[in-house]
Amino acid sequence: MGTSYTEGGAHEAVASPSLAIVKYWGKQDSRQNTPATPSLGITLSGIETRTAVTRGRERDAVVVDDTPQELSRYVPFFTYLRERLCTEARFHAESRSNFPAAAGLASSSSGFAALALGCAAAAELEPSREQLSEVARIGSASAARALFGGFTALEAGAAHAVQLRDEHFWPELRIVIAVTQPETKETSSRDGMERARLTSPYYRAWVNDSRLLFTTATEALEERDIEKLGTVARMSYLRMFATMFSSTPPLIYWQPESVSLIRLCEELRREGVTAWETMDAGPQVKMLTLDNDVEHLVSEIEERMPQVKTIVTRPGAGAHLASEAGAGG
Ligand code: DP6
Repeated sequence: MGTSYTEGGAHEAVASPSLAIVKYWGKQDSRQNTPATPSLGITLSGIETRTAVTRGRERDAVVVDDTPQELSRYVPFFTYLRERLCTEARFHAESRSNFPAAAGLASSSSGFAALALGCAAAAELEPSREQLSEVARIGSASAARALFGGFTALEAGAAHAVQLRDEHFWPELRIVIAVTQPETKETSSRDGMERARLTSPYYRAWVNDSRLLFTTATEALEERDIEKLGTVARMSYLRMFATMFSSTPPLIYWQPESVSLIRLCEELRREGVTAWETMDAGPQVKMLTLDNDVEHLVSEIEERMPQVKTIVTRPGAGAHLASEAGAGG
């Protein structure tokens, strides 16, 4: 791993969010932050978090979009990082994303991936990708996947993610993000999944069923079979939402526009257009499509829902230093 020096001696790391096709939702061990379900992610290109890290201050500090963050959310991450990477260093990190944070666009995945890499660079350490993925997992389990580019897997109970295929494996694949509401969500994924674990009568069934969805999705990926992958993606997010709807109190992230977009995808699929939606802990809808259908899909959304902003992405590189071209396995 090279070293990046930006202005003021900061080391800038760049990471893109990991969108789950098969979802992680629920923890096997909350102290270790290991997932109860295996997940399959795509690291997205074009949207990213940039985090500049310096060392040498007395205590750790994290600033996101110019706002100093409550450190308690970061203590386990920094403690684990120092232990795992054998360093005494303290860090000051300033982070900025070019997409709405904490709105169900997986900003914690890119955030902690960039933070892990930036801290390692600032401390002049050269850990492996797997070690960085482990450290990022403590911050946010989805961030373990964002260290790697392309298509990734994080097994149930796993310490780190692995890359299944790189970002060049499926050149026609596109992911359209429809931003229905850029405001910050009320309930974090962390709180939402814990509520589901503790209160949803369907949670056990969700966990038991997750293995089959994951295996089928990895097969679909190998076969580059969009219909098979899209079908499993729908099952995964809808079953995850079933645990949210059945929690006490119920958790409903959906907005009217989310439902309209789900319906639009159904309609377009009936017309032969590739559009397979998925959702996370927020109202935004992400759609899997192929290059020759992307224009049609985007124009349908713009025409029917002019208030909804779309972002077209594709599988992208893993976390890397700003001084390096896209890297990450
Ligand atoms: C719905 O990784 O944000 O996006 O580990 O508690 O920080 P913590 O949760 P987080 O949860 C992501 C949940 C999800 C699905 C996924 O990305 O797999």
